[in-house]
Amino acid sequence: MSDITKIRNFCIIAHIDHGKSTLADRMLEMTGTIQKRDMHDQFMDTLELEQERGITIKLQSARMLWTLKKTDTDKKIGEYILNLIDTPGHVDFAYEVSRSLAACEGALLLVDASQGIEAQTISNAMKAIEHGLEIIPVINKIDLPNAEPERRAEELKSVLGFRREEMIFVSGKSGINVDTLLDAVIEKIPHPTGDSTKPLQALVFDSFYDDHKGVVAQIRIFNGELDPAKVRARVAKILFSQKQTAVDPVEVGYLKPYMSVSPAIFTGEVGYIATGLKDISLIRVGDTVTTTDAPAPPLPGYEPAKSMVFAGFFPINNDDAPAFREALFKLALNDASLNFTPESSAALGLGFRCGFLGLLHLEIVKERLEREYNMDLLVTAPSVEYRVKLINDAKIEGTVEENYDENGYFIVRSPSELPDMSRIEMILEPWVKVEIITPETYIGDIMTLATSKRAIYKNIEYIEQSAAGATLKRVILKYDIPLSEIVTDFFDKMKSMTHGYASLDYTFDDFIASDIVRVDIIVNNEKVDALAFLCHRNSADRMGKNIVAKLKEVIPRHQFKVPVQAAIGGKIIAREDISAYRKNVLKGMYGGDETRKMKKLEKQKKGKARMKKFGKVTIPQEAFMAVMKS
Ligand code: GTP
Repeated sequence: MSDITKIRNFCIIAHIDHGKSTLADRMLEMTGTIQKRDMHDQFMDTLELEQERGITIKLQSARMLWTLKKTDTDKKIGEYILNLIDTPGHVDFAYEVSRSLAACEGALLLVDASQGIEAQTISNAMKAIEHGLEIIPVINKIDLPNAEPERRAEELKSVLGFRREEMIFVSGKSGINVDTLLDAVIEKIPHPTGDSTKPLQALVFDSFYDDHKGVVAQIRIFNGELDPAKVRARVAKILFSQKQTAVDPVEVGYLKPYMSVSPAIFTGEVGYIATGLKDISLIRVGDTVTTTDAPAPPLPGYEPAKSMVFAGFFPINNDDAPAFREALFKLALNDASLNFTPESSAALGLGFRCGFLGLLHLEIVKERLEREYNMDLLVTAPSVEYRVKLINDAKIEGTVEENYDENGYFIVRSPSELPDMSRIEMILEPWVKVEIITPETYIGDIMTLATSKRAIYKNIEYIEQSAAGATLKRVILKYDIPLSEIVTDFFDKMKSMTHGYASLDYTFDDFIASDIVRVDIIVNNEKVDALAFLCHRNSADRMGKNIVAKLKEVIPRHQFKVPVQAAIGGKIIAREDISAYRKNVLKGMYGGDETRKMKKLEKQKKGKARMKKFGKVTIPQEAFMAVMKS
């Protein structure tokens, strides 16, 4: 059992791309946890897609050893166990971040010396403060030619109130001052506390799936010890509180960062339990681990997975339905936040309605299915969840209790689920609180954009930093806004109008009554259910017109005229006609070059494979994509 005063549990929090993974790599390397030759850049970001996009999606912790050689109070000199808990940086994973923070006593707040404080820097710092963590402010990437460490120091002082002398200036890339930072982790961050004689009480802050060992939960022990042999001797089992899942684990141990077996894990430590379970949904982040014979109370802060964004996923080729189902189940083994239920669409065949934490989460899942599992997918426009109050609090035929929320409102996750308007008393939609940080120059543009998206202005704060005679002004803008507006194109528009200089963070606020309508898209007099969408009545005309115009561009001409319409209820709000035309790809190719002809025809055939047939009309996948983006 290790001396609890010689343990430090900490995480790194930062805005995306401020260098969290790179710094983590350097730490692993400098502590000798990983040999340089084994090191591929950014060890902490393990998934292929993460490496490619440079974003951390999965958390991964690592146990490192570091010797403090010199200090003011000689008492602290010696070897320490440093448990680094990596956290995802993106807004979609706020809950996962909060559970990682709950597992730590301290956090390194990383700020890119060339970028400065961004929206997630602030939101993560606030969360760390709420959790009572000791925060070490770190200014990173000081090796960059355009680094402005002094200006960033000013910013950290004015916005978050840190003192200049607490800040550590490092480069995760070149390693400058990373040793000082490791020393500071030992000196500044308190050691964990806990009672080793109490019953086992541990927090699950992450889980992943291992082909041989089943679901592996990463845990931090607050009280007691985890010793499977002793539990077995007591004829008891390890218990995951939330779903009362009892297991006799395959093994327990530490991540270094590979799984390294240990007979037991003790109070204050961070480690893993390989459960042998096949279903990751049984063990969710935030769950409490204890034992069946002496169950400790669940730790606070647990929340069930809350899907915020929904989309239908359908294989382009109906024959792929079983393969797609298998791929989705496999992927979900490693992703406890991914929800899905089977959905069948007259137009698209068999697929799944999937729920995600946010848009980035959706995109990651889609890309992984396409890339790792070779799935050719059609993904419907992302939407949010609506709540419907029915007249006289009636219930819809064929629904069950789970289809209603705690107020008895019907939950609608796809346009096709919206009950007939005549039965509806009111529709509620989710609103979020957003914080946008932007250079002062763009305030006007962002305000115009926000207003056009139904946002309600709340507050503005100025961040001003002067350095080397220049003054840089940035502002924090606060709004309340419907989530559906963010889900469409708010973020992209904001990024492009500010040339990438603005950043955004949001948290769910509440469901609020709103004038929501369903817009149907009708192609050649047939409703295409996959193209229907729900939106605010004021946007319906504009969106309907846009989509109809887009579809006119992307649906190929047929041998007959194809009308494309948008409608609310029976009322047509937009119409375009695609005039008849027979596309002859061989037109203009005279004479004998057979291979060229074959190639053209082959290409046309391939194009067809990515189309879906609706009645007599084929709609290419691009049409759905175009609608999704518009
Ligand atoms: P997320 O995982 O998306 O949150 O990003 P991250 O914070 O882990 O950032 P990452 O470590 O992936 O670094 C982002 C980019 O900055 C990469 O291109 C790194 O090579 C670069 N970078 C990170 N640290 C340094 C540094 O100290 N100096 C320089 N010059 N570049 C750095």
